Amino acid sequence: MKIKLFFYFLIFLIFLLKINEAQKTCKISVLLSGDKSDLGYNYMMNEARVLAESELHLYPFSIYYEHLEESIEEAEIAIQDSIEQGANLIVVSSVIHNSLGIKYATKYKDEPIYWIIRGSKLVPNLPKVVVLNFNSFELHYLLGYYAGLATKTGVVGFVSPGVGINTLSCDNSFYIGAKYARPNITFLDIHTGSWYNPEVSYRAAQKLIDNGADVIGMSQDDMSVQKALMDVGKLGLGVTGYPGHYQFGSNVAYSYLTNWTNLLITYANHVINEDWPIADSFFTNLSRKDAIFMDEFSFRVPIDIQSKTKIELKNLMNTTYAPYKSDPILTKIGLQFNGDWVNDTQFRANKIILPSDGEATVIYYGLYTIPIEFVDYPESLKIGVTVVAAFCIFLCIVSMIIVIAFKEAKVIKSSSPIFCLLILFGCIVIFVGCIMFARSPTDGNCRSRVWLLSLGYTIFLGNLLVKNWRIWLLFDNPKLKKRAITNWKLYPWVTGIVLVDIAILSIWQGLGEIIAESRTGVDSLSKYEYRNVCASSDQGSIALYMLLVFHGLILLVACFISFKIKAVDIDEFNESKPITTSVYIITFCLFIVIPIMVSSPTVVTQTTIICICALITTMLSIIFLFGTKFFKMLTVGLELGQTFATSTKSSSHPSQRTTKSSNGSNTKKSSFGNNVLNLEDDSDEISSEKEKKLVPKTISSNPNDHMAVFTSDEETSKTSKFSGATEQLSRDAIIVGGGSDDEKEEEEEEVKEKPLVSEIQTKRLSLEKNGQTEIDSNDV
Ligand SMILES: *[C@@H]1O[C@H](CO)[C@@H](O)[C@H](O)[C@H]1NC(C)=O
Ligand SMILES: *[C@@H]1O[C@H](CO)[C@@H](O)[C@H](O)[C@H]1NC(C)=O
Ligand SMILES: *[C@@H]1O[C@H](CO)[C@@H](O)[C@H](O)[C@H]1NC(C)=O
Ligand SMILES: *[C@@H]1O[C@H](CO)[C@@H](O)[C@H](O)[C@H]1NC(C)=O
Ligand SMILES: *[C@@H]1O[C@H](CO)[C@@H](O)[C@H](O)[C@H]1NC(C)=O
Repeated sequence: MKIKLFFYFLIFLIFLLKINEAQKTCKISVLLSGDKSDLGYNYMMNEARVLAESELHLYPFSIYYEHLEESIEEAEIAIQDSIEQGANLIVVSSVIHNSLGIKYATKYKDEPIYWIIRGSKLVPNLPKVVVLNFNSFELHYLLGYYAGLATKTGVVGFVSPGVGINTLSCDNSFYIGAKYARPNITFLDIHTGSWYNPEVSYRAAQKLIDNGADVIGMSQDDMSVQKALMDVGKLGLGVTGYPGHYQFGSNVAYSYLTNWTNLLITYANHVINEDWPIADSFFTNLSRKDAIFMDEFSFRVPIDIQSKTKIELKNLMNTTYAPYKSDPILTKIGLQFNGDWVNDTQFRANKIILPSDGEATVIYYGLYTIPIEFVDYPESLKIGVTVVAAFCIFLCIVSMIIVIAFKEAKVIKSSSPIFCLLILFGCIVIFVGCIMFARSPTDGNCRSRVWLLSLGYTIFLGNLLVKNWRIWLLFDNPKLKKRAITNWKLYPWVTGIVLVDIAILSIWQGLGEIIAESRTGVDSLSKYEYRNVCASSDQGSIALYMLLVFHGLILLVACFISFKIKAVDIDEFNESKPITTSVYIITFCLFIVIPIMVSSPTVVTQTTIICICALITTMLSIIFLFGTKFFKMLTVGLELGQTFATSTKSSSHPSQRTTKSSNGSNTKKSSFGNNVLNLEDDSDEISSEKEKKLVPKTISSNPNDHMAVFTSDEETSKTSKFSGATEQLSRDAIIVGGGSDDEKEEEEEEVKEKPLVSEIQTKRLSLEKNGQTEIDSNDV
């Protein structure tokens, strides 16, 4: 037993020793400036990490950090985190983090941590650092050479981050390459201001294409320049180190490849074997064939161009052949020659573009900024709303004509033509408002569209409201008092509502500082597109909320009244049904619209919702209100000059009435006021007195007429209540009529001062002047 235990202990000891021995491991941490899946430099770096790890069976596993270009702090955090996680081979892959890498390598100089830092200068005082670099100039030179051979227009271009971010030696190398292939080349150079900004580099490439370039080189981190070329059917160049044809097939003419697997394997082995080369450098180039290569040509590239380029590639393999560094033109930008080549330090730091030379022309565009473009509302919205609204306006006008033409028809007459016309007018205003809403905002448009919509709805709803209100007053009448509610008594209410609306709108316009603003980034627009939106101050917003509350209140009251009179089921009042329906539809729409409006922040959706809702509710309302009337006129007939109480009117004196009415017309009488007033005289006139006189006649002559029956019923009940005292009744009528009349017509006073006229006469007169009726059922 003891022996067995000792045996186990021995095995354990050996195991421990083994672990100790295996502690010389390498944990790689790769710091990427961009996205690891960019199919470019970062992708290749990350792939190298993965391949090296699996090749060397590295454990603990390697780690990586991406998107470190966003801020230096992020990169610092990544380095510190790497060290905390035990990484001992840290790869600072981006040139922009060079000084940061040096800083931390200095800080952890005495720790067993090794560094691969991208840069161009050796750091002899840091033995654990290897400086990584590759000769990208010869790659750009070779691609430029290809471009010079391949261009059909004789114009080639180059897109680069530009001064401040990178030197211009890549641009210059490409130019020299193109010039070597074709001495009369035109070279266009443009800068994007960043390594990675696909939107800008795409458009910058488009600009070069517009200026004739058909082959474009670049030093960006993505393939947007190539995409711009491919989008116009041209071939791109693979300039990210990733085999372009894996992604774009034959559309990529020629690529250079980077492969950092060798680099990582080599230096990971140095860490594991503890034979790290002191202060090394890894300055690779084509001739070394250890990290950068040229890919195969696309089959779309003509063979002669392929072979010429391959010859130049072979030349470049000769380490003494470097035209991009030896062309005499380089002295023109102040570079000094140091033997066959220019001073390398100066060459790498160069920030000046080469000038035109001999037959070759250089056009330098400098930093490209995307022009900010105006984006209008979608045409479909503008055209759709305008066409539908115009059609609805046309319908409204036709309806107005029908109303005026058939004002004598019973259906029209009984629903008061002037109200019909006002409602239709309100609708037209709403439709014009919709058309304004679908236009791109201007200062004037921002104001007028709110004015139009608000006023339109106020006129429209206000009229519906008072119409139903009148029915309510007539029926919700527990004391069974007679009420004379004429049109003239309703107009002030409509006017009042409209005036309140105008007041709020004036406050809104006065305090709101309403202007149309150009905004980028609204809706799904890019930051290079703008759309006009209406803007106002805080006071303006408050006024706008007041306006909303005001309209909400009108709707609420309208709904309440509609609810109250839902029991009224008399044929003559059947207009209350479509009115109720319209009010409910609008309310319903409002309840749907407000949440959608709040939850959808895009201007176009909001505009679309407002327009569609306004159009649909108004259109439906018109159909309900007028469609039914016109349908009735078609099916039942015009019944010209009739109202349900017509029979009673034969007894009144038309001549008298006409004169009275023209006298009695107040200041509100408009151009067709006479007409309307006369109409009202006719339609509104159900004198209860007359009714009373003619009750039997009414019923017998017009048995289907509910209202007539109703009137006489009320009359009877009232009569009984007041024990048939005609005098009492007539006074009552006068007082009630006078009391409820806001307009205080002068004639009323006159009437009161006529004690000698017979009671019946008095009442009739008073009624006629008063607005002509006790129960104004006709004019509902
Ligand atoms: C430019 O040179 C190419 C050959 O290098 C030649 O084919 C072309 O005609 C020349 N164009 C002009 C405008 O001289
Ligand atoms: C890079 O090199 C390694 C080792 O030489 C190889 O396994 C790998 O396939 C290469 N990667 C690419 C993309 O060619
Ligand atoms: C390529 O690398 C080799 C070996 O490091 C070097 O001798 C040669 O000068 C380099 N060539 C160029 C053009 O950088
Ligand atoms: C390399 O180029 C030089 C001149 O640039 C030439 O003298 C030499 O013969 C070339 N070497 C090879 C191997 O081609
Ligand atoms: C290259 O130029 C830099 C800066 O102009 C200078 O300091 C350096 O001495 C030059 N190198 C050679 C080898 O002339």
